[in-house]
Parts: sequence; C-alpha cells; structure tokens
Amino acid sequence: MAFERNARYFGSYVMQRPAMGRITGVPLDQKTCETWPDIWGFQAHPGDVLVAAYPKAGTTWMQEVVDMIHEDGDVARCRRAPTYDRHPFLEVVAPKPVPSGLQLAEAMEPPRILKTHLPVQLLPPSFWEKKSKVIYVARNAKDCLVSYFHFQRMNKGLPDPGSWENYFSTFLSGEVPWGSWFEHVTGWWNAKDRHQILYIFYEDMVEDLRREAQKVARFLEKDLSEDVLEKICQHTSFQAMKDNPMANYSTIPTFVMDHSISPFMRKGIVGDWKNHFLVAQNEIFDEEYERRMKGTTLTFRTQL
Ligand code: A3P
Repeated sequence: MAFERNARYFGSYVMQRPAMGRITGVPLDQKTCETWPDIWGFQAHPGDVLVAAYPKAGTTWMQEVVDMIHEDGDVARCRRAPTYDRHPFLEVVAPKPVPSGLQLAEAMEPPRILKTHLPVQLLPPSFWEKKSKVIYVARNAKDCLVSYFHFQRMNKGLPDPGSWENYFSTFLSGEVPWGSWFEHVTGWWNAKDRHQILYIFYEDMVEDLRREAQKVARFLEKDLSEDVLEKICQHTSFQAMKDNPMANYSTIPTFVMDHSISPFMRKGIVGDWKNHFLVAQNEIFDEEYERRMKGTTLTFRTQL
C-alpha cells in the first residue's frame, strides 16, 4: 500500500543506493542509524509476534506462515495487503513520504506481527521486557550468501554487491547490511533458551513445511485443524507465493526492486550454492566456517 500509494510522488526518480552507517559495529543503513534511538526505544506489546532472521533466510516465508496461522487459514485475509504493510519491518526507514517501519508499527493495533533483521544484541529491549514471542529463521550460510548476492543486485535499497568474486569475501567478512551471518545465527541461538524464541531452520521448512508450520502453531498456542494446516501449506508453497503479489514484492516500484535482474522469489531451494561456488571458493568458505563456528552446538544442512 505505502509504496504503490507513494510511487507517484517519485515520478521519474532514480534511486540512489544507500549509504551505510554502524551501530555498535554492525553495518546498517545510514537512515536506520540516524533514527536508532527511536528504534531502540520501540515499545513492544506482550502479544506481538516478531519474525526475526538474517536477510534471505526465509523471513517472508515465515511471515506468510505466521499470518496464515493468525488468520486461521483465511487466504483472503492474508491477501489484505503486501507483506511489508501487514508486518512492519521495525528498523527500515524508507525515503519520505513512505512511512518507516516504526511509524507503521505504531499506527497498528497490537498484537502485531513484526519483522526484523537485527542481530540479537540490537533488538529493542522492550521485546524481552514484555516477553513477546520471537520466531527466528536460520538458513545455511552458503545459500544465504547466494540469495543475498542476487537480492542486492535487484534491490536498490541496499548497497551494490559488486562482482560475485568480491561479494564472496564481503559476505565472509560481515561487511554487508545487518552484519556477519556467523554472529547473527549464533547470537540468536545462544539467546533462545533465555527468552521466548522458537528457532526454525529454512532447510527444515523446505523438507517438511507441514511439520514446521505445526511447530510454529504450537509455539503460538494455536490448535490447527487438518484443513487449516493444508491451506497453510498450499498458500505458502514457493509457487503460490511467487504468484501472489501480496507476498512476492512485485508491488514495490521497479526503480527500487527490479525483478527482471533477479526475482524476489528466486529459486527457493536448498543447495543452490553448488551452482555458484567455485571449488577454491568452497574450500576457503569451509575453512572460515570451521574457524567461526567452532564451539557452537548450532549445525546447518547445506543439502537435503
Ligand atoms: P532464494 O533467493 O534462494 O530463492 P527473505 O524473505 O528472508 O528475504 O528470504 C528470501 C529467500 O526465501 C529467497 O531465496 C526466496 O526464494 C525464499 N523463499 C521465499 N518464500 C519461499 C517459499 N515459500 N518456499 C521456499 N523458499 C522461499
């Protein structure tokens, strides 16, 4: 709604890639950094449900699953607005006059479904104080890297990723928006037993969506009938979401997201990294991965 409604204000506007700033060392959009005190002070509600994830881990997919659970499988209700208007993206500050995530969230009656890519240490403390439920989605690093590379190519709201070769190193060094994949997934993993956090893997959702949707429903204390569960699986399948303008980001003007460069709903598979990584890159990646993940109990599948 916000983007289509405001697209006319932009006219032939050419989108500049954003400048980046840092909050406690984590690279974030400069505009997010400028409004950081307001974001940090965000007031969560006990009934709010937060979908948190590193970029490209399946955030939008989980948002659709949570929305369907919340709406008892009512597909028409879940088509009420595009993803970004249904579930405010907390830390996003779009160019004026598009409302920021905070403005959208504050204009919405709680309990709300919210979205964030923030690493755990940057989550506004009121989420913990109010004991809001958080669903964290994690995806293996290799597929995240590939998906993020293509997303940064098509989305002018993020820095230019440069060449694949350069991006490979940039991602490993954590110099991408929202920072290091390693710190993100392990940070949330280490926090999960201290708070109301359900930690879900993208690969498990691809393997058995019904099972994972049921896990989410139990966490949200919702009893799902077989019929509703079936509707959730159909409505949130890759193809259904790719065809759904309320879930596929096609409502964002093309000067921001250009799906002809790479569609938002790109492949939706586990193991696409094999089509991108050179043998030498894979070796470098595995070595760095081993070093960074040493000592954690968190494990990922890079193929099914
Ligand atoms: P790919 O680029 O690998 O296709 P996010 O929402 O966090 O930005 O994640 C986007 C990634 O999740 C994209 O990955 C997208 O295709 C994938 N995705 C979205 N909905 C999906 C679904 N229903 N099934 C499988 N993958 C999905």
